[in-house]
Order: sequence, then C-alpha cells, then structure tokens
Amino acid sequence: MTIFYFTGTGNSLFAARKIADATGATLVSIPQVFAKEETYTDDKIGFVYPQYAIGLPKMVRSFILKNEFDAEYFFAVDLYAHIRMKALGEIAGIIPLDYGAYLKTPWNFIFAFNPPKSPEIILEKAEGRLEQIISDIKDSKRRIVKGRKKHGAATAYFGKTNFNVTDDCTKCGTCVQVCPANNIQVTEKTVFGNECENCFSCVNLCPSHAIYSNKKMQKRRQYRNPFVSVNDIIEANNDKL
Ligand SMILES: Cc1cc2nc3c(=O)[nH]c(=O)nc-3n(C[C@H](O)[C@H](O)[C@H](O)COP(=O)(O)O)c2cc1C
Ligand code: SF4
Ligand code: SF4
Repeated sequence: MTIFYFTGTGNSLFAARKIADATGATLVSIPQVFAKEETYTDDKIGFVYPQYAIGLPKMVRSFILKNEFDAEYFFAVDLYAHIRMKALGEIAGIIPLDYGAYLKTPWNFIFAFNPPKSPEIILEKAEGRLEQIISDIKDSKRRIVKGRKKHGAATAYFGKTNFNVTDDCTKCGTCVQVCPANNIQVTEKTVFGNECENCFSCVNLCPSHAIYSNKKMQKRRQYRNPFVSVNDIIEANNDKL
C-alpha cells in the first residue's frame, strides 16, 4: 500500500502516519515527488490531504492529473475542520475512488478565525474515527463517492498571496523550509512568489508570528498539530534536503 499525503500544519501527516503504522503502507509526501512524472503501482493507493475551499489543494490535484496510478483499490481521506460539504467529489472526479472518508481535524486557516484552544480533544476523536477508516481500508471496504467535474475554489483562486511580514522577522528561514511550493525567499526581506498553495504552514510555523495578510491574523493563535514537529513538516515539504 502507498499513501500520498500533503500537509501544511501537520494534521494530514498525523493521519497518514496513523494509517501507515497500522497497515505497513509506504508514506510519500507529494511535494517531495511533485517534480517527477511517474507510474505508481501498488495493491492499494491512498491520498490524505487537507480540504481547501470544499476541494483539493491545487498541488494534490495537479499531482494526480500528471501521474499514472495503477491499483486494485483507491482511497482518499479528506481532512476538514468545519465545513466538509461534498469536497470528496473533486478527487472522485479525477481518480476512480473505491473508498472516500472525511476526518474532522483542528482548523488551521487563521486568516478567517482562531484555531481551537484545545486541539487535543478534536484529535482524540479523530484517532477514534481513524480506527474505523483503517479497518475499512484493511478490509477493502467500498464507499463510492460521486465525482464532480468542477474543481474546487482552491485550484481556481489560490496562487498569488498578499502576505506581509512584520519587523519581528529574524530571517530564520523556517518559512522557506516548511513551504511545500518553494514559494518563499528570505534575503534582505521575505519575498513570496506566485506559486502559493495557501497551506498556511509559513504563517502558523513562523517562530516570530511575523507573517500576516490581515491585521486580525497577527492577534490569532498559531496552529501546528501537537504530535507533529516543525522538523517533520520541513522533511515532508522541503524537497531540497
Ligand atoms: C486555505 C485553506 C482553506 C481551507 N478550507 C477549508 C474548508 O473548506 N472546509 C474545512 O472544513 N476546513 C478548511 N480548511 C481547514 C483545513 O482543511 C484543516 O485545518 C486541515 O486539518 C489542515 O491540515 P494540515 O494540518 O495537514 O495542513 C482550510 C484550510 C486552509 C489553509
Ligand atoms: S519564519 Fe518568520 S521569522 Fe523566520 S524568516 Fe520567515 S518570516 Fe522571518
Ligand atoms: S507561501 Fe506559505 S502559505 Fe503559501 S505555499 Fe508556501 S508555506 Fe504555504
């Protein structure tokens, strides 16, 4: 079994690891292999990713579209925080999913509002739900999701960011290392390119909380999955290591 995952703040890595630990699956971080074009073959192939605007992160969508996948069983685990609607429809529209599941996880999009004060409570429930998902995947259970042709808003709108950086920036370079899209450069100042995935990794993991796109964001709490370290996210997202 192979699991492809994408993560900004660690929730998807947390979930992907749990599934891999229980099944012996090989974990592959999408940003690490994104530059290649391959045919991936295994008995089961899964995708674990955060839901963005009721759809897929654009890198996950492009990754699926530009590679070939050969498996007897395809599954997807869509991590959401508040509004899931029919987000799995986007991935089901581009790969023949045998099984799709939603997993409620803590909110990381601090552009809009604060993450939860006690993410552990949500993550404990998520672990319970993951046990069911793992058992379903082991049993090759089928839960067909109706595919839709239209992509989500993430693919349509994200890319250009309007992030600013406060004088609290120490030029530590963490934002550069955690960015899955190689979209940040720190020289005289921190500069963002046009390849942003809106994963909010840089915003949430900056040790100085210096990255913002609206004033309210500066006052909000930052979020990182408490069971995933900054180094884990760097290893997942930095393809230069
Ligand atoms: C740009 C963006 C858009 C998001 N859109 C949604 C959404 O439509 N519905 C939802 O419930 N959560 C949404 N979220 C929350 C994430 O899906 C959720 O916090 C996820 O667990 C983050 O996973 P990660 O830690 O692996 O990055 C969004 C987060 C970001 C950064
Ligand atoms: S992570 Fe924050 S402090 Fe470090 S270089 Fe980036 S913006 Fe500056
Ligand atoms: S610039 Fe920030 S929000 Fe955009 S992809 Fe990179 S780490 Fe994620």
